[in-house]
This record gives sequence, C-alpha cells and structure tokens, in this order.
Amino acid sequence: MILNGNNITKEYTRRGEKFPAVNNADFFAWSGDYTVIFGESGSGKSTLLNALAGISAPTSGSIAIDGQPLYTLNDEDRSKLRNERIGYIPQNAACLPAFTVTENIELAASLYKHRIDKEQIQSLLKKLGIAHLANEYPANLSGGELRRVAIARALVNNPDLIIADEPTSNLDEDNSRKVFSLFGRLAKSGVAVIVATHDRTAFGYSNRTYHMKSGTLIPDIGEYGNL
Ligand SMILES: Nc1ncnc2c1ncn2[C@@H]1O[C@H](COP(=O)(O)OP(=O)(O)OP(=O)(O)O)[C@@H](O)[C@H]1O
Ligand SMILES: [Mg+2]
Repeated sequence: MILNGNNITKEYTRRGEKFPAVNNADFFAWSGDYTVIFGESGSGKSTLLNALAGISAPTSGSIAIDGQPLYTLNDEDRSKLRNERIGYIPQNAACLPAFTVTENIELAASLYKHRIDKEQIQSLLKKLGIAHLANEYPANLSGGELRRVAIARALVNNPDLIIADEPTSNLDEDNSRKVFSLFGRLAKSGVAVIVATHDRTAFGYSNRTYHMKSGTLIPDIGEYGNL
C-alpha cells in the first residue's frame, strides 16, 4: 500500500480572507511506515489528516492510494475505499449513545464485513485496557475510555492504513504507551500508521517524524527524526 500526497493545499476563509491551513504539503507513506506529525494547535494537522483520510478534498494537489486518486472517486466509492482500507480516528470521535461499546464497534465492522468477529472485538478491547467496559454505554465512560473505543472501532476492519488524530488526548502516559506500541506492532505487521499529536510520549515509536508549522509540513531530520 502506498499513500501519496503531492502539493496538498487546503484553504479556508476567515473574515473574508482566504488562508492556507495546509500549504503545498508533500506526504507519502507505505506499508510498515509509522509516521508521527507533531505541531502546535492550529498548525493544520487535522486539516491534513482529513484530506489524507478521504474526508475533505484539498483545494489543490492530489492524494492517491496505490495510484488511485481519492478525490476523483464519487462519494460512494470513496466511502467504500475508506471503510475497506482506512482506519480513521478523528480528533473528536463520537460514539452512538444508544449503543454499548461492543455494539458501537460491531456497527463499524458491519459497514464492511458480513460476519462480526466477537472474539476479535474482545481482544482489541483487552489490548486497549477497556475489556471490562464492553457492555457499558458511552455516557458512562471517561474521555480516555471513549478515546480507546474510537481506536478499537478504527482497527476492527483490519485497515491497511491507520490515520489517528490525537489518539492519546485524554490518556495517561501508561495508556498512551499502550496505544503507541499497539500501533507499532500493527506497523511491523505491514500497516501504514499516521499519527498527529502533541504527545511527546510518541517519540521513539515512529520511524518517521514531521513537524507542522503554520500549514507547512517539514520532514524532521533532527535528534528524533528518521530513526
Ligand atoms: N472549517 C474551517 N473554517 C475556517 N478555518 C478553519 C476550519 N477548520 C480549521 N480552521 C483553521 O485552520 C487552521 C488549522 O486547523 P487544524 O484543525 O487543522 O489545526 P490542528 O493542527 O489540528 O490543531 P489542534 O492541535 O488544535 O487540533 C486553524 O487556524 C483553524 O482555526
Ligand atoms: Mg487537530
């Protein structure tokens, strides 16, 4: 699997003025890559990840998975590709309140698979330290627990590509490490992992880092870069 983004620019309008939230970014990732994008609040990380995940088209530039440009597909085909291949963990993922933790994850699985693997769901919850919450309703969970449900939901379809936006916000260091090392194991098994974060715990897990500064994506060749 190769994700290839060229000259990605995304403009927004604020008080009548256009500005680039992402400015001419080049980005690629292939199977087994574990990429972390650091950057301060407002630097454009979520905007870039939304574009890479097929959620929101860039103003200009191209994004392709295995040579298939994402934004030349119609909405239905792009959703299908997303469901089959991309595990996306949005910054503000929400669970459906009328369904339990397990049912929320089953719903995500049913979008793509015909058979729900209850053991796989239980094993994912266990790896994330929330197996005891399988039958709880979202309203009874903490912010960090909900974050981990969103991660389980993104992983249930065994995606080729994981795009995680601040996956460890609301998590303590111990649980953050669990998440980053779970992503590391998935990358070793051939998944491409892309994480945007402020969390310094992420250092040392990835094999490539970038910094995002005011919309500009800069490959990191510093002390922690390209380990
Ligand atoms: N829909 C929108 N319309 C206009 N401006 C927007 C919109 N969404 C985001 N922005 C602006 O674009 C810039 C980048 O936002 P983005 O959410 O990508 O940043 P971020 O790096 O993810 O920040 P954070 O770390 O706080 O999540 C910010 O200046 C933000 O205010
Ligand atoms: Mg963000």
